[in-house]
Amino acid sequence: MKLLRSIANWLEDRTGLWQMIRPMLLHPVPPKTGWSYIFGSATLLAFMIQVVTGIALATIYIPSSGQAYQSLQYITEQAPFGHFLRGAHFFGASAMVLLVGLHAIRIFLTGSYKFPREMNWISGTILLFATLGMGFTGQILRWDQNALWSLVVGAEQAGRTPLIGSQIGHFLLGGPNVGADTLSRFFALHVFVLPGLLLMVVGLHLYLVLRNGISEPPERNRPVDPASYRQWYQELLSNSGEPFWPAAVWRDAVFGVLVIIAIISLAFAVGPPDIGVPPDPSLLHAQPRPDWYFMWYFAVLALLPHGLENYVILLAPLLGFLVLLLLPLVANSGDRHPLNRPWALCSLLLILSAMGALWLAGLQADWSPDFNAKPLSATVIGTSSGPVARGGLAFSKRGCLYCHTISDQGGRRGPNLTTVGNRLTAQQMTIRILNGGYNMPAYGGILKAKDVEDLVAFLQSRQ
Ligand code: HEC
Repeated sequence: MKLLRSIANWLEDRTGLWQMIRPMLLHPVPPKTGWSYIFGSATLLAFMIQVVTGIALATIYIPSSGQAYQSLQYITEQAPFGHFLRGAHFFGASAMVLLVGLHAIRIFLTGSYKFPREMNWISGTILLFATLGMGFTGQILRWDQNALWSLVVGAEQAGRTPLIGSQIGHFLLGGPNVGADTLSRFFALHVFVLPGLLLMVVGLHLYLVLRNGISEPPERNRPVDPASYRQWYQELLSNSGEPFWPAAVWRDAVFGVLVIIAIISLAFAVGPPDIGVPPDPSLLHAQPRPDWYFMWYFAVLALLPHGLENYVILLAPLLGFLVLLLLPLVANSGDRHPLNRPWALCSLLLILSAMGALWLAGLQADWSPDFNAKPLSATVIGTSSGPVARGGLAFSKRGCLYCHTISDQGGRRGPNLTTVGNRLTAQQMTIRILNGGYNMPAYGGILKAKDVEDLVAFLQSRQ
């Protein structure tokens, strides 16, 4: 006991850590902060889980396009605890996105971004977008068919952004196309650049939370006046403030434990998302599906009229970022209670319900290819030998059926081809197959001339 105390004294004498932490723990917080104030600390906890599980995964993962897929398979199937680790990292990511979203919603609803906490909100906006960036780059590291094609579609579309498009596409992919450098680029973003940014900005964010104090729960008709708020807040704290430890921290602790339990149980019970088929650039897969938290945005892109999504894919997030960034600068005083801010309340509800509806549309997405379409049977094809039969088989095998319906079988991303023989000439079909079209991949470099002839013969027989 004596020894422990002298070690502690020595450490304190040489570092002064306790002297620094003590006032943080005991700093007064406004009374009645309650359960809605727990999401910030829970987000931080999820971030720490991501750092720990991420470092563990990075010790085995090989960020090279030749080996990434196999190393991930090894992690999932053989490495000790690998399955669990990937699961925990996936559900940790889901938790972090969800919690950071809830935290931002709470801050917005209670107007906590107003004076003097503008910079808290601005640093928080950077953290929100860095978190989403971590989600996106992390999905790419899976480096399966889905990841590869998310990139081809995403970066290609980003590359069509007016003016700056091609530079951005080049920057994202580490070259003009998806290639060996692309994966290193995303690996660097995911394990060095974005986490470094997150750590720095999290530090700033926490410092600001301590410096400016936690916002008091809003009350109706008690607007923020920058001229007098600070003094008023100090009086509130000295009259009825409670020490952070233990008056407020226990709720954070209870919720934090629940978050950890949820992540661990889901990682064990559900496990990591399947890694899809290995990436194969000759297998076309034109509309990959992202993880759940990007599903709504995926729906936005898919449902927009042709051509518009080139503008939206980069500019919409940029616009969202700027709007959030500027929010506390244009509205830093006045009422904080949501019922006194009908515009804020309505826009939040509108945005959330739009996201919800888009999210559902994304899940059901019949405009995304149906990869479970059963191959066409001989009865549908109508013959079992000759070019028509070969073309019918190729139609299933080459993935045409994922997007096109023939006699009620297949996907609905492209036009129904049941009677295409009446509509198009052989030449028109050949051109379409070789060159692709809007959301149809070009098969020119992939199919042999003979295959194309067979496919056209088959399509000509669809009358
Ligand atoms: C990723 C989805 C997808 C795949 C895979 C796909 N297509 Fe298409 N296809 C489309 C879309 C979308 C269109 C409409 C293109 C447009 O409007 O420009 C289309 C159009 C066509 C048309 C013209 C139909 C018309 O009525 O104008 C033909 C013919 C066709 N595809 C044949 C094929 C064949 C053969 C294959 C396989 C080698 C194939 N498609 C693979 C999505 C796909």
